[in-house]
Amino acid sequence: MPTISVNLKDKNYDIRIGSGVLNQVAEGLATLGFSQKAVLVTNPLVKRLYGDKLKESLKAAGFDCQMMVVPDGESYKSLDQAGKLYEQLGDFQAERQTPILALGGGVIGDLAGFVASTYMRGMPLVQIPTTVLSQVDSSVGGKVAVNHGRLKNNVGTFYQPRLVMTDSATLATLPKEEIRNGMAEVIKYGAIRDPELFEMVENNPSPAAELWEEIITRCVAIKAEIVQQDEKDTGIRNILNFGHTVGHAIEIVSNYKVKHGQGVGIGMVAGAIISEQGGFCSTREVDRLRTAIQKAGLPVRIPHLDINKIIQAMQHDKKKAGGQVRFILLKGIGEAFIYDEIEMELISGLLQEMND
Ligand code: NAD
Ligand code: GLY
Repeated sequence: MPTISVNLKDKNYDIRIGSGVLNQVAEGLATLGFSQKAVLVTNPLVKRLYGDKLKESLKAAGFDCQMMVVPDGESYKSLDQAGKLYEQLGDFQAERQTPILALGGGVIGDLAGFVASTYMRGMPLVQIPTTVLSQVDSSVGGKVAVNHGRLKNNVGTFYQPRLVMTDSATLATLPKEEIRNGMAEVIKYGAIRDPELFEMVENNPSPAAELWEEIITRCVAIKAEIVQQDEKDTGIRNILNFGHTVGHAIEIVSNYKVKHGQGVGIGMVAGAIISEQGGFCSTREVDRLRTAIQKAGLPVRIPHLDINKIIQAMQHDKKKAGGQVRFILLKGIGEAFIYDEIEMELISGLLQEMND
């Protein structure tokens, strides 16, 4: 089974990937020296699908395991829910060395990770991602956060997990819409860094079960390599946001009717067209990217939204550097770079053309 290591100055961790990895969680914890209590944070759906069985396996291995169940949905990635988890941790008499296991998609990973990073000034975190998005992206790299007020991910920390256990077999139960959502991130990794992965996705827009292990491994290897260079996201890590500046603004202006993966798909097309207009990549490469996104079941045009509002939302994007909106462009499929010089009029014109 593939294992990717993230090697940071004072903290290293493994990402174990493969079908059946869920059965190895107890052994993974033991390897890290944990043997007594463990806290499993999940949501009702994932509890039923995988949580109950995982808890039993941990109990069988001798752990005093407490399950903490958070309602399903982005709106529960909140300080309020974090507060409820703190209380339950207190009731369970969790200690500073009690591992918190985040079992679920990015919502659970971000919330449980935030709680792990703040309760008692930091408890060990184990990510056990069960969606494509969380397996290829959010479980690795240490960004944990909750949403506060109208802003997403605005209260958070950098807090690396001690271990990531990624069971690709859990994707068998994931709804098609969530697979498509995650495919946007897979296409992103191919486009920014891995032409072979990109080709794989071009040929397999809805990947068969046996392909996931390789797809996840390739994405995570890229993320590990980038995070090792720039853990705190001040430079090269920005390239992981290819398609996200425009995509995120579209999500917001559509009132989240446009899903994250859909917004990123449209944003990547915009990024590729800007790259072509700047003479950085060819028309053929823009076409390849657009076709791959379409074949994965994602939109490539804006569904009739107010472009001025999208531009405004982009100005608030947290990746703004010195007042300039930071863009990630392509020098071709497999090579991304940061570009700070783009005129907003140019973006505005392009988005008008892409608007239905
Ligand atoms: P999600 O966590 O909401 O999961 C999507 C849905 O799938 C939920 O209803 C969930 O219950 C269900 N689900 C999870 N696993 C399942 C399975 N195996 N079978 C069936 N259903 C399953 O969504 P997501 O796309 O995984 O994550 C989105 C979140 O991730 C957002 O909050 C976003 O901000 C965050 N995110 C974080 C980072 C990071 O670096 N920390 C990066 C990208 C996104
Ligand atoms: N998902 C982008 C990052 O982790 O930086």
